[in-house]
Amino acid sequence: MTDQRQAALEYAHKNKDRFLAEFKEILSIPSVSTDPVHADDVRKASEWMAAQLRALGMQKVQIFPTALHPVVYGEKLDVPGAPTLLIYGHYDVQPTDPLDLWTTAPFEPTVRGDDIFARGASDMKGQALVTLKSVEALVKTGGMPVNLKWLFEGEEEVGSPNLPKFIAEHKDLLACDLAVNPDAGILGQELPTITYGLRGLAYFELRVTGPAHDLHSGIFGGVVHNPANVLAELIAGMHDAKGRVTLPGFYDKVRELSKAERDEINRVPIDDGHYLKNTGAPALYGETGYSANERAGARPTLDVNGLLSGFTGQGSKTIIPAWAMAKLSCRLVPDQDPEEVHQQLIKYLETHAPKDVRWELQVHAGGPASISDRNNVGVRAMGAALEAVWGKRPFFRREGGSIPVVADMQQLLGVESVISGFGLPDDNVHAPNEKQHLPTWYRGIDTFIHFFLNLKPA
Ligand code: BES
Ligand code: MN
Repeated sequence: MTDQRQAALEYAHKNKDRFLAEFKEILSIPSVSTDPVHADDVRKASEWMAAQLRALGMQKVQIFPTALHPVVYGEKLDVPGAPTLLIYGHYDVQPTDPLDLWTTAPFEPTVRGDDIFARGASDMKGQALVTLKSVEALVKTGGMPVNLKWLFEGEEEVGSPNLPKFIAEHKDLLACDLAVNPDAGILGQELPTITYGLRGLAYFELRVTGPAHDLHSGIFGGVVHNPANVLAELIAGMHDAKGRVTLPGFYDKVRELSKAERDEINRVPIDDGHYLKNTGAPALYGETGYSANERAGARPTLDVNGLLSGFTGQGSKTIIPAWAMAKLSCRLVPDQDPEEVHQQLIKYLETHAPKDVRWELQVHAGGPASISDRNNVGVRAMGAALEAVWGKRPFFRREGGSIPVVADMQQLLGVESVISGFGLPDDNVHAPNEKQHLPTWYRGIDTFIHFFLNLKPA
């Protein structure tokens, strides 16, 4: 091992407790991006990130305001001949509801056993700190082996509405050889993973309205069409008996899996039992003809994310509701286009919605899927880094979640991302009792030390 490799790893191990103390600091800031009440906390989190970059000796550290939450930038470009990496992270988090299901308060980070519990611990303040602390270890033991740029956003959990514009307007500032995106996880404590594909997202809100106001269901039942009944029928028609989505043309552009890719996906040692255990569902469901791993990573879906209509309080109330609403979203795969899926949904509704109700469709933020080259220098450097720490070759996986910035960076900057983070499937991301497994987090810091050094020019 080179001297710096050894020294940086030792530095990281000696500073474990302080790293954890700083992790707790950022986890204590309730930076919930979707909630206007927390706008000031999101700003505080952006300042915390900027302060970290300054402490690392980054230059041009700047907080750029956007129409919603700020972008944080910093750079250190003092290694001639070495590649320039753009490290991405988001410092915002999901809301905490249902709050009563948390064992300890979401913004009072608490270590229990090997885990630290807090909103954002795994998604993704923990992963952002992995990059910051691995860089610290290198800066303090001889300096960075590569050039760095950083881009932290505060809007990822609301679909990054202002990020594409920021990237498009700062192409020169963000120009780089490779992007690094740790906003994803590994498959298990002993299953080092590189994510090479992500699904895209198309998110909608569908509202069906009927009568001008709620009606007595005895006086008017049988006379007007009930919007809740209509919405339920429309949703039920969106899948066929084989679990396939029925929007017209939905599968036209879906890139089919090659035999080689199917083999690779199915080599991942995760089976139906894993999905049963991690979901708690009584049985699995999905498109026939594909394994669960294939369905979760490489096939598109349509799901209801929320439903609201009529009387939902205690007891009973006999009404025909005036309206019904559903939040619907599709996870997309290459080469589906979110706007085309929007048009397909409109066509479906025009064909199937009865004329005795009105409907309205609103679009929320989303983005296309992405797939990256499994053989670029960054992926090879990450593969070797994971192998150095875990002692085994990493698995390659197509992730079912979405990180729209990866496609934005491909399209706007022409750069590939290396996607590797250290969350685990049972981290309860977006759910109560989110956690980060600390031994895996420390291994993540070691991995990134190796990764940066692996990219140092010979
Ligand atoms: N970190 C996740 C994406 C992710 C999820 C990666 C699971 C790996 C495993 C990210 O913060 C996220 O939740 N993204 C949203 C995107 C949406 C708001 C546009 C998602 O996937 O729902
Ligand atoms: Mn995330």
